[in-house]
Amino acid sequence: MPRGLTDVLEEWKCLEEEYQHAQETHRMYLQKLDEISKLQNNCSSSISSQQKRLKEMSHLVKKCSKGLSEEDAKTLDEIKEKMKMRPNAFFEMKAFLPKKNGLYLSLVLGNVNVTLLSKQSKFAYKDEYEKFKLYFTVILLLFSFICFFFPSYRFLDAILNFLLVWYYCTLTIRESILISNGSRIKGWWVFHHYVSAFLSGVMLTWPDGNQYKIFRNQFLAYSLYQSFVQCLQCYYQSGCLYRLRALGERHNMDLTVEGFQSWMWKGLTFLLPFLFFGHFWQLFNSISLFRMAQLPDCREGQVMMCGLCFLILFMGNFFTTVAVVRQKLKSRNQKPKHL
Ligand code: COA
Repeated sequence: MPRGLTDVLEEWKCLEEEYQHAQETHRMYLQKLDEISKLQNNCSSSISSQQKRLKEMSHLVKKCSKGLSEEDAKTLDEIKEKMKMRPNAFFEMKAFLPKKNGLYLSLVLGNVNVTLLSKQSKFAYKDEYEKFKLYFTVILLLFSFICFFFPSYRFLDAILNFLLVWYYCTLTIRESILISNGSRIKGWWVFHHYVSAFLSGVMLTWPDGNQYKIFRNQFLAYSLYQSFVQCLQCYYQSGCLYRLRALGERHNMDLTVEGFQSWMWKGLTFLLPFLFFGHFWQLFNSISLFRMAQLPDCREGQVMMCGLCFLILFMGNFFTTVAVVRQKLKSRNQKPKHL
């Protein structure tokens, strides 16, 4: 037999063995996947049945809570305390189970499963989301800078507004995926991105008339400032994320809950004045636009629309931020050693 052919045969035999091994591993993988999907179904149905029974249970508890002896009332209180914790526990459990997409995700992505099944992949996705926000915000900052300091080209403004529309639409999708994976993003921030996408869309269609020229510089300066604040916000939020991850893992970073809390408060107190200044700039934009809409030569509907959007943004941002800070202050005062 020629030497070349013996080499081929030997190599083939080796390949064949490796192929058998790969096939076996793949078969095991499919089997485990099957087991996992059965476990997922079991978990989901036992959680739903627990939730249903918990509801019935709370009716029962309400009915029998009158006229009890002190000891019985104490037992009932203990049960009530435990029942209060359950919804949170179920929320966390559900974050690791596949679920049907909500209306928005089903419309945009179809019925594809977006649940990430491990803590690491959830953190990685959130980390990537924060990075995406940061990189894109830097691009927006540069673009606003170019539009603000260079001669007025309506074409450049249109690109900036198009980028803003695209950015906010992308955020709504990414945030819906994050929410499916157990993130506690408040509904307002998602709604904020819909309103912002609409606002940038309206700005895109605003004709290059006199009114547009009057508002242009104010809007570009606001975009510059907003991108700057968003960079600070991204830095704060990725800092929180890294510290929370380190807290969850407790590997090599010697980080305590108190350490996290004090870092978070420092970050928040630094960030808040910038945020509130931005909110009042939104109010200022809306007042300027409402005033402009009352001028006799103002015929463009975009003026009123943008004014309304800025007003909604101001109210939502301001009140939600105040509520978030109040809630954080309250939880700090109540249990200083916990998150
Ligand atoms: N956009 C997207 N996600 C947000 C968010 C926002 N503006 N604010 C909070 N979140 C997310 C957090 O990342 C966290 O997610 P997780 O559950 O996946 O970890 C969740 O919502 C809960 O966050 P919370 O603890 O309530 O707040 P925080 O400490 O992360 O951030 C603020 C608090 C006040 C800094 C933040 O809400 C914020 O920046 N708000 C102002 C935004 C604004 O006004 N922008 C306009 C500037 S001109």
